[in-house]
Amino acid sequence: MSFEVERTTVWSFPERGRWATQRYTSTYRGNFAPQIPRNLILLYSKPGEVVLDPFVGSGTTLIECKLLGRKGIGVDINPATVELCRRNLEFRVPNELPQVVKQGDARNLDFLENESVDLIIAHPPYANAIRYSEDLEGDLSRIHDIQKFLGEMGKVAQELHRVLKRGRCCSLLIGDLRRNKHVVPLGFHVFQVFLKRGFLPREIIIKVQHRCRGTEVWISRANDFLLLAHEYLFVFEKSGQP
Ligand SMILES: C[S@@+](CC[C@H](N)C(=O)[O-])C[C@H]1O[C@@H](n2cnc3c(N)ncnc32)[C@H](O)[C@@H]1O
Repeated sequence: MSFEVERTTVWSFPERGRWATQRYTSTYRGNFAPQIPRNLILLYSKPGEVVLDPFVGSGTTLIECKLLGRKGIGVDINPATVELCRRNLEFRVPNELPQVVKQGDARNLDFLENESVDLIIAHPPYANAIRYSEDLEGDLSRIHDIQKFLGEMGKVAQELHRVLKRGRCCSLLIGDLRRNKHVVPLGFHVFQVFLKRGFLPREIIIKVQHRCRGTEVWISRANDFLLLAHEYLFVFEKSGQP
């Protein structure tokens, strides 16, 4: 499968990358295509640098870190997901760098020092659009109330800002929701939350969403509204000035 780094603000990957163990990450609900972290890593980090994914899920980002020679750190609230991620990292590459996976909460990364990370790739739950657990304490996908979800994302933004080095980038993929036929502009809201916590806006990328699980159900219901077919990939920067 051919791969070229993206050069515009519209990204579309009709065919999901299946290299290394990425064919296994494709079955995790709400996973993203490996082309997303691959582009971000190549655009915003150098070999040997530290990349953090605070919502690591099945490990799509860390597999790319391993393949591209970056030190990866992955965090997920769900211990079963952490195990899955570790299994997906079981393959060999020459001169491999450490990939650390921890059970933890993106709102509290106190095992990481201030300004110790070169790039962040964050893919949080879109509030409760997909529930990742029934009763796991700290799972942000259990929050239905949008204001409460944004409050918790404020804590995430503050922590990500703390651990990121000055002048470096924090990316975030998020989609909007539809509730009772009205769109909930979750992307716009989360964008503002990150600016309020001190990040600078570097890019707003539209990520075209291809058919995913559940699309058929929505098509059958969609008589008087449009199907959401994009997500936002925001790239923020931490100011180089103290
Ligand atoms: C959209 S998924 C990430 C999918 C990932 N990009 C992949 O390709 O597999 C969001 C993840 O966030 C995790 N999560 C929910 N609340 C969290 C929290 N407070 N801290 C860290 N992870 C959390 C969920 O368990 C889920 O695995």
